[in-house]
Amino acid sequence: MGKINLRPHIARLVRLRVLAIAMMFGVISNAVAQADLANKIAKADIGYGEYLAGECVTCHRKSGTGIPQINGIEAETFVTIMKAYRSKELDNKVMQMVAGRLDNEQILSLAAYFSSLPE
Ligand code: HEC
Repeated sequence: MGKINLRPHIARLVRLRVLAIAMMFGVISNAVAQADLANKIAKADIGYGEYLAGECVTCHRKSGTGIPQINGIEAETFVTIMKAYRSKELDNKVMQMVAGRLDNEQILSLAAYFSSLPE
């Protein structure tokens, strides 16, 4: 009768535990990043956002032009979208150009402004 070799099992348990910790850390750091972003948006200058929005509303008007309406957009979503246009992960030449000229502070201000508007 041979001995049962526990080594592979222990190794697997250790790996699972490392994975679990890594996942927990991911969830926590994600939550921290979200809270941090919400905090930055809360502190952003809405008036500056309104001023910058002058350029946007030539295209993003209220009704049916085929261009999406962005009034009342969720602020964190707005930031994610604008950064994705800026990094060209999202594919639209016009928006890539528009977002490419904005820095983080300007995107946050625009997020505060557009999210404050009624849909
Ligand atoms: C010349 C016209 C034009 C201007 C100016 C413009 N946009 Fe856009 N924007 C578009 C078009 C067209 C789309 C849709 C792109 C697509 O469908 O891929 C869009 C998409 C977006 C979206 C995504 C909306 C969604 O629901 O997916 C956001 C957010 C946005 N624009 C914000 C802005 C902001 C902020 C500004 C000003 C800083 C701006 N846009 C200026 C034409 C414009």
